[in-house]
Amino acid sequence: MSSENESKSLAIVNCSQVVTLAGPARPRVGAELRELGIVARGGLFVRDGLIERVGTGIEELIDANTIVVDAGGRVVLPGFVDAHTHPVFAGTRVDEFEERSRGATYQEIAARGGGIQSTVNRTRASSLDELIATGRHYAEWFLRGGTTTVEAKSGYGLSLEDEIKILRAIRQLDRKSPLRYVPTFLGAHSIPPEYKSRRDEYVSLIVEEMLPRVAQEKLAEYCDVFCEEKVFTTDESWKILSAARCHGLGLRMHADQLSLSGGAKLAAELGTVTADHLEHTDEEGIAALKGAGVQPVLLPGSVYALGSSRYPAAREMIDAGLAVVLATDFNPGSSPTPSMAMILSLAATHMKMTPAEAITAVTINAAYSLNRGDQIGSLQPGKIADCVIHDAADYRELAYFFGIQHAWQVFSQGKLSHG
Ligand code: NIG
Ligand code: FE
Repeated sequence: MSSENESKSLAIVNCSQVVTLAGPARPRVGAELRELGIVARGGLFVRDGLIERVGTGIEELIDANTIVVDAGGRVVLPGFVDAHTHPVFAGTRVDEFEERSRGATYQEIAARGGGIQSTVNRTRASSLDELIATGRHYAEWFLRGGTTTVEAKSGYGLSLEDEIKILRAIRQLDRKSPLRYVPTFLGAHSIPPEYKSRRDEYVSLIVEEMLPRVAQEKLAEYCDVFCEEKVFTTDESWKILSAARCHGLGLRMHADQLSLSGGAKLAAELGTVTADHLEHTDEEGIAALKGAGVQPVLLPGSVYALGSSRYPAAREMIDAGLAVVLATDFNPGSSPTPSMAMILSLAATHMKMTPAEAITAVTINAAYSLNRGDQIGSLQPGKIADCVIHDAADYRELAYFFGIQHAWQVFSQGKLSHG
C-alpha cells in the first residue's frame, strides 16, 4: 500500500456506533470475541494517517485543515482484514463453475487436469504487467467491500520464475494500490503435471530453489502449503514448512479442507501461525491447535461455493478457546468472492457465530494472525486509520442484510479509497 501521508486531518462525526474493537493487545478468545468496544454516537479523528482520538470530543480537534465527514448516523468499523486470499491469477473458471452446477465435483475436475492447474496454465502465460492489471481490478473489489488489508498467496505459478512473478506482482500491487497486501509464498499449492511422476523433485525444487530465492528477495512474510491427501502429504508439508521456518518465514497451512488428513495436527506440531479451512478437523485436532496456540482461519465462502454443507466447527473452536479468524479465500476456483459481508452472513447463518464474534474474527483477530495486531484491526489511538463507514445503523446489519455492499466510504491510512 502506498504510504504517502495526509497533510490534512480527517474527522468522521455523527456515527451511530463506533465499533472500536478496543481490548487486550492480543487476539480475542472465548467471550472476548463478543466484546466490540462500541461507542454510541461518537466519531473518529485522524492525523497523518493515524488515529488520534476515538469516541467523543472529536469536534474540539477540528480546525481549518480538517476534512469533516458526516457519517449521517451510520456505523464505523475498522477496515476488514482478509487473512486468506489468492488474489493474483489470470482468467476465470466460469466453465468449470457451470460444469459443477450440472453435478461435476471440484475433485473430479482437478483430477482431469482442470481446477488449480487450469489457472496455473493461464497465469504462466501472463506477463507481470497483465497480472498487476487484473490484480488492481480485484483490489478495487476488496476496497469496495470494506477490506483494507489482504493476505495474498502466490501458488498459480508452480515454477521458480512464475512463483517469483506472482510475488512481484503482489509487491507492486501493495505499492500502487490503497489496499495493503501481506505476501505469502504458496509454491506448494499443487504438484504441476511435469512433476507428477517425480513429486520428490518438486518438493526439492521448493526447498532448494524457490524458498531461498523468495527469502533472498524478501518477497514473502509467510509460507503456506496445501496439505491434503493427493496434494501435499503431511511428510511433504513438514519438509517444506520446516525449510521455510529456517528462512525466517512465518507458517500457515491449508489443513483438513477436503478430508481429515492430519493437517491440524501437523500445524500444531510445527506451531504454525494459522491453520486454515479445517472443515474436517475433529475434536482432537481442535485440542491440538489450542495446545499449540495456532489460530484457525475459517473460510465459509469455499464451503458455500463448492456446494458443500460441511462448515468448520466454529462454535467448538470458540468454546475451546481458539482465536478464530474468518476470511474469504478469494480465488477463481473454490471461492470466487472478495466479499467479507458474504462471509459475515455465512458465519452467522451456517456456523452459528454471532455477528459480534464474526466481526472480531475479520478485524482484530485477523490482524494478529498477520502479525499486525499492533497496527490495524481496531480503532484505537496510534493505530493506522484504516476505517470504513457502512450504510447501517447497527453493526449487526452487516451480517443480517445479505447480498448487498454495505461499505459507504472506505478510508485507507486516513485517505478515501472508495466512496
Ligand atoms: O483455498 N485449497 C486450495 N486452494 C484454494 C483453491 C484454489 C483454486 O481452486 O484455485 C482454496 O480453496
Ligand atoms: Fe486457500
